[in-house]
Amino acid sequence: MDATILDPPFTTKGTMSLLCEVMIFDPNQGVHHLRTALKGRMFRLEGVLPVDATVLLLVGVKVVEMSSDRPLMKLAQESQVFPKPSLNQQSMLNVVELCSGIGCLGFGLEHAGFTVLHRCDINDRMLEIARNIHSAPTTVGDVCNDSLLPVIGALNCGSIAAGVACQPYSRLGDRKHGGDPRSLTLPGVLRLGFLGRCGIIILECVDAAGSCAWVQGVVKAFEAITGYQVPCCPGHLAPSPDLGCQEKPMVVHTDASEYWPSGMGTDAQMHSNANGCQFA
Ligand SMILES: C[S@@+](CC[C@H](N)C(=O)[O-])C[C@H]1O[C@@H](n2cnc3c(N)ncnc32)[C@H](O)[C@@H]1O
Repeated sequence: MDATILDPPFTTKGTMSLLCEVMIFDPNQGVHHLRTALKGRMFRLEGVLPVDATVLLLVGVKVVEMSSDRPLMKLAQESQVFPKPSLNQQSMLNVVELCSGIGCLGFGLEHAGFTVLHRCDINDRMLEIARNIHSAPTTVGDVCNDSLLPVIGALNCGSIAAGVACQPYSRLGDRKHGGDPRSLTLPGVLRLGFLGRCGIIILECVDAAGSCAWVQGVVKAFEAITGYQVPCCPGHLAPSPDLGCQEKPMVVHTDASEYWPSGMGTDAQMHSNANGCQFA
């Protein structure tokens, strides 16, 4: 994983999605000046922005001019703009479950004090089952592209949780690790958490993912690039064994330790267990 997945180079080809900060708001809603959240690259944006928003998630914006040191972007008809206010205690407990399957991870999280606002999966059959068990709405989408950004953008979710694909690491899978295209669900989820300005990213996978060098590399790179911290969650969130789930959770978070819900243990416990990205 490198920084370009989170803060891609400006290009006039296609559209871009970015987390950014409003530097100069144009009250006439003509051209605003913004900078990208990660690399701080300045750009101009033509179009109507929400008044008073300081951090924005831009989805599907187009670069129309590259010639100056501040490229000009334009909101296209299909572009979406979501204000991303700072985190608070309530929003940290609001979670969107990605790669949700039938929703076991979220089920465990609700028992730890979270509220699952929404479930998303690439497989609608899984979501159909999830809807029969839980009340949260669902959306079909792929974590490896922008299709779920509007869900994460629109909801006041300070956390995301994801049962990333386990076939690249599991005994029943192909064990090709980063060589299996399904492993891209891991950087895909981390990217969605970053662009959604989420304070906590909870990852669930089989034990073997925890000792996989490729997984370790991706999570450590994410930590180094973004400043998120990767303590190991000592199993508090593991889904109920009677659901037959073998996956274990791992937590990636920004510096928001005061918001840990009681069911997740204290931050001190988490840091004393900090050992990179080992799954609990
Ligand atoms: C290991 S399972 C998660 C199990 C889940 N915790 C449950 O309770 O069912 C992985 C899930 O990720 C979904 N998935 C795989 N690739 C995906 C992608 N690119 N985008 C979104 N979901 C994906 C699969 O359909 C599957 O439901």
